[in-house]
This record gives sequence, structure tokens and C-alpha cells, in this order.
Amino acid sequence: MANHVSLTRYLVEQQRVDGSIPSQLRLLIEVVARACKSISHAVNKGALGGVLGTAESENVQGEIQKKLDIIANEVLIEANEWGGHLAAMASEEMEDIYVVPNRYPQGEYLLLFDPLDGSSNIDVNVSIGTIFSVLRKPEGAAVTEGDFLQSGGQQVAAGYCVYGPQTTLVLTVGHGVAMFTLDREQGSFVLTQEHVKVPEDTQEFAINMSNMRHWDEPTRRYIDECLQGTDGPRGKNFNMRWIASMVADVHRILTRGGVFMYPWDKREPNKPGKLRLMYEANPMSWLIEQAGGASTNGHERILDIAPTQLHQRVSVVLGSKNEVERFQHYCAQADKAS
Ligand code: AHG
Ligand code: MN
Ligand code: MN
Repeated sequence: MANHVSLTRYLVEQQRVDGSIPSQLRLLIEVVARACKSISHAVNKGALGGVLGTAESENVQGEIQKKLDIIANEVLIEANEWGGHLAAMASEEMEDIYVVPNRYPQGEYLLLFDPLDGSSNIDVNVSIGTIFSVLRKPEGAAVTEGDFLQSGGQQVAAGYCVYGPQTTLVLTVGHGVAMFTLDREQGSFVLTQEHVKVPEDTQEFAINMSNMRHWDEPTRRYIDECLQGTDGPRGKNFNMRWIASMVADVHRILTRGGVFMYPWDKREPNKPGKLRLMYEANPMSWLIEQAGGASTNGHERILDIAPTQLHQRVSVVLGSKNEVERFQHYCAQADKAS
């Protein structure tokens, strides 16, 4: 089609219209997109590319790494280290930050990523993805881990690429959310949706129900009321989806609404939740807010949380605004009663 808008053209036009994307940031986003394209090819090859299965190593979270976790991590680092747009990177798969080597110029941005989200779905051919978040490096000489500890509200770009029936890149630079589908014949991402909006109400929730016995009171109450359907206080029936890839669950919510929940639970009471704040919850929360939805840990807006550790975890409830606010209200009521 003649009027296809590529990611490159979209970024150039955004830059021209309101100067919202400095050229270094534009380069950064294009490089991340290129890396995602190459991860998408590796994912597509599957068994033919020898990329399935475990890698016999653990990451800093104590999780067994899959071969594709490591491949995706390497692809992102190799693509991003030489362009001059970054000072350092941080990843779910690396304990420490990765400072751009001296042989390359240092840029003014910091890139954080979950190279492969939904690892448990790799070998079973279910949607997985890459999540990324971009921060500005604070003033100062050498880059440190402390430079990364900025709240989600400071992000200058965030997005994900979902490797599903289609490969779709979803992006925000703070002016709404746009979606780009990978055209494999052209080898480029093409704009397929702009001004993405999450409906304020929904009848669909996403939570791992197998953890029900470990939940706290507000989570139990919220889900229990949904399950009662038309007979309960909500007066309507709810549907449930759980893909076990946050990218795929969030993508569905950006497409048709819903609420995604990975709350704190009693399995590991000392951890605030399972998901990681800096490269899972923050970028997804910003996308959801940019699309008119909401995101909370039950007590505060995720984007307001002041991080203290690179790999810190967080309780996450995000999606359709009225549902997220309802859950927050239940948390406030439970706090008051205790
Ligand atoms: P990752 O593969 O990067 O470790 O993330 C997996 C996360 C998230 O994508 C998903 O929503 C959740 O873990 C699934 O958890 P359960 O296996 O507990 O359902
Ligand atoms: Mn993940
Ligand atoms: Mn991961």
C-alpha cells in the first residue's frame, strides 16, 4: 500500500511536529526495534534454529534461563552498545548494569529491558515478547547503578514487542500509544494503530488463579465479586484470560480492555510481588496510562514508586481505569480495617 507509514517515518514526523523525540532518542528506538526484529526471527525459527530449551544457567532472580532469554539479551546489547546513544543498559538477565565500553561513544540515555518476557511460553509456541524502558542519564561523570533508580514517571520512552501470530511493536514517548506491525516482506515495522485507548470499564480479568489460596483480602474480594457474575455485587459476568506472558496480557488489554493482576501473595511474603518494577511494571504502566488506563501496586501509582534496587519487585494491577480504581479502593478499605 502506498501510504504505509514506517516506524522510521513516524518517528521523523513526530520529531518534526513537536520536537518530542530528540534525534538520539529516535536512533535508540530504531535500534531497539531492529533488535526486536532479529529476536522475532530467532523466535520464529524455534526448533529449526536450535533456540528452544533451557540454558543450564540462572539469572539474578534465581530463575533458570532459557536459551532465548540469553540470545535476546545478547542481541539487545550488541545492537545498542556502539551507536553512541546510550550510556548504559540494565537487563533482567544481568545482575549488574552494562556500561557502554570505552571504545564506543557514550550517549545520554539509559536503556532497561526484559529481553524475553514470558519465558515459560517459549517452548510451547505461545506469545512472548521484549519489554523496554528508556531513562535520561542524570548529570555527572561515570554512570552508576544509582543513575537507573528513577521513578517510572521519569521515562522518556517505553514499549514492548510481542512475538505472536503477528510481531507488533508498541511504543510511547509520552504522546499516546502507537502500534507497529512487522511487515516481514519489507523488513520494517509499519504503523497499524495510533491513539490507542483502553476502555474504562471491562468484563475481563487476568490473574493466575492457582495462587488464590495465597492472596490477601483485597485481591480475594475483587476476584470473588467478579466470579459471582450477575448474581453478585458487580451485577455482570466476567471472563478470564491468563497467558502467563505479561506482554501478551497487556497487549490484549490495550486492544480490548481488561485488568491484569500480579499482586503480592503469601508464597514469598517478603517480596512485594513477582514482577520487576524497572523493566516490566514501569514501562507497561506508562503505556497503559498513556492509553487512558491506570496502574497501581494497590497503594500508590506504580509510576510514582521511588526505586531502591535495580531488580526490585512490585505488586501490579493495571488496565481499565474503573477496575483499577475499584481495586485500590478495596485496598484502602482493608488498610483502614486493620
Ligand atoms: P519472565 O519470563 O520475564 O520471567 O516474566 C514472566 C512473568 C510475566 O510475563 C507473567 O505475567 C508472569 O511471569 C507469569 O507468572 P506465572 O508463571 O506465575 O503465571
Ligand atoms: Mn518478564
Ligand atoms: Mn524475561
